[in-house]
Amino acid sequence: MSPLEQPGQGSSETSSTAGPLRAEESGDRVIGVGPWVGEWPEGDHWDEELLAEGDRRNVVDGYRYWSHEAIVADLDRRRHSFHVAIENWQHDFNIGTVVRTANAFLAREIHIIGKKRWNRRGAMVTDRYQHIRHHPTVEGFVEWAEAEGLPVLGVDLFPESKPLEAYEMPRDCVMVFGQEGPGLSEEVRQAAQDTLSIAQYGSTRSINAGTAAGIAMHSWIRQHAEPSRAN
Ligand SMILES: C[S@@+](CC[C@H](N)C(=O)[O-])C[C@H]1O[C@@H](n2cnc3c(N)ncnc32)[C@H](O)[C@@H]1O
Repeated sequence: MSPLEQPGQGSSETSSTAGPLRAEESGDRVIGVGPWVGEWPEGDHWDEELLAEGDRRNVVDGYRYWSHEAIVADLDRRRHSFHVAIENWQHDFNIGTVVRTANAFLAREIHIIGKKRWNRRGAMVTDRYQHIRHHPTVEGFVEWAEAEGLPVLGVDLFPESKPLEAYEMPRDCVMVFGQEGPGLSEEVRQAAQDTLSIAQYGSTRSINAGTAAGIAMHSWIRQHAEPSRAN
């Protein structure tokens, strides 16, 4: 069952008989829902601990009280065919934002190129619902992309970059973002089928990498995703 088909889980839900007890109903300004009220629903995807104690996770209403495994399995059935990658040579603090946005837009996988450790703060725990693959080198990442038949699209402001605004995004692809400071590495630039730039009009040299990633992912969404399947 998809999250949109869940009965009684919408944001206008009230818990007069059975169903979720919303936090605000209990007078608290707490994220999520309290214990399930009334008879528990039947199904393998429900998490008994969450039904009993409430669900404060950062998940959409349709996934309230679902087990973590059931949510990931449901996302896996619906994932889009674009991947995102970000270079991580200096522990870039934008990676959490990229991961969170990749989860919101339902990227197939996230790739961290370079250092394995990254700052999870901005991810808001969304990394638990994504498949994250680490590639220690650009060479290894490019080999992986070739083996998967995925065109590599570098996203950065190079003179040869094509305007993202007019670019026809391949349905299957991996977009790669650079880090603050150095930007996209020369190795990725050379390996990319195309590099893409986001038009700017002000005085700054560049925008934040997490913001750039959100704009690029949304270009793919605008061209390929079905609005009717959104949450
Ligand atoms: C802040 S930029 C790096 C700094 C940049 N090399 C400079 O000269 O100021 C970090 C990353 O954000 C992304 N980025 C930022 N602005 C962009 C833009 N206008 N178009 C495409 N990518 C952009 C790229 O992936 C880039 O590697």
